[in-house]
Amino acid sequence: MSMKRIAVLTGGGDAPGLNAVIRAVTKTAINVFGCDVFGILDGYDGFIANGGVIPLNLAAVRGILPRGGTILGTANRGNPFARKVIQDGQEVVIDLSDDTVRAIQDLHLDAVIVIGGDGTLRVAMELCEKGVPIIGVPKTIDNDVGGTEITFGFDTALMIATEALDRLHTTAEAHHRVMVLELMGRDAGFIALHSGVSGGADVILIPEIPFKHESIIRKVRERAQGGSKFSLLAVSEGAKPLGGQEVYARSGDAVYVPRLGGIGQEVSNYIEQQGFEARVTVLGHLQRGGSPTAFDRWLATRFGAAAVRTASKGSFGRMVALRGSQIVDIPLSEALAIPKRVDLKGDALATARGIGISFGDE
Ligand code: F6P
Repeated sequence: MSMKRIAVLTGGGDAPGLNAVIRAVTKTAINVFGCDVFGILDGYDGFIANGGVIPLNLAAVRGILPRGGTILGTANRGNPFARKVIQDGQEVVIDLSDDTVRAIQDLHLDAVIVIGGDGTLRVAMELCEKGVPIIGVPKTIDNDVGGTEITFGFDTALMIATEALDRLHTTAEAHHRVMVLELMGRDAGFIALHSGVSGGADVILIPEIPFKHESIIRKVRERAQGGSKFSLLAVSEGAKPLGGQEVYARSGDAVYVPRLGGIGQEVSNYIEQQGFEARVTVLGHLQRGGSPTAFDRWLATRFGAAAVRTASKGSFGRMVALRGSQIVDIPLSEALAIPKRVDLKGDALATARGIGISFGDE
């Protein structure tokens, strides 16, 4: 297939490395395939917004490799199948997918590279079913997209979370306190698990393992009795007590997903009720902002280049993925079939338990 016009967009929450993908897509499409490249602004919205499509050339992507965020902008309420609009002064949710498909057809694009997490990639798959030639690139700090061993953005979030634990460690020790660090990750505990192990947490709470409050305090007491009068807890925002619910900062609706937040404070309150001094830190969007690590730049660049090569073969509805040390491409349907979660039988958990970390379940 001769590929002449290619577009790239970023959707959902940002992740460090988005600009590295945009740069790799643009450079590969121009240098290897001689394409015209277009950037779609603010996710899928850009297709139907006035001025939402911009040309991308080599000059436009110069200097963006180490930059966080995305030069194209993003939106996590930009699902064209469920778009919130104001009609007759009322807020309503409507399906704009046909308008989006028409706008894409009018641009005569040979390929659309969509960089996003599971929500954005699901929309990509549905648009592909309506005839749009789409290739997905998996992005998220949560590392929860199926079919790929790692998403770019995860390594940077991990580095920031680990540094936060290191910093909390010294102040916890100085004041004989229990420090609780609430981390992102939604329904997947990868950030808490990996940074907890790397940052020396004593207790790690993840969504995949419902915890018992008594089990947390037992660990804190054991440590205190053994002479370590401080403890460090890495708590995933989606962690929940056995038989209980996740803690939400805001409920969801047809457009917005519910926003997790507050479990760290809840656990900290419990620890204080048991007679220990505790403090909570919510690391929040610091995990998503700023410059990507070398690994994320490397992975993002390989993903971007591979997405363009896959598009050039004319095989659409696929997502690039990391398997072993190779970049492969797999059907989007396969990637989205099962969301990735921490493997309860995997070596990571066995390792963490073996070195004495509590998951609050024993
Ligand atoms: O999916 C990435 C993520 O950062 C989650 O870890 C977190 O729950 C969510 O996005 C936060 O979303 P927002 O930026 O909309 O608050």
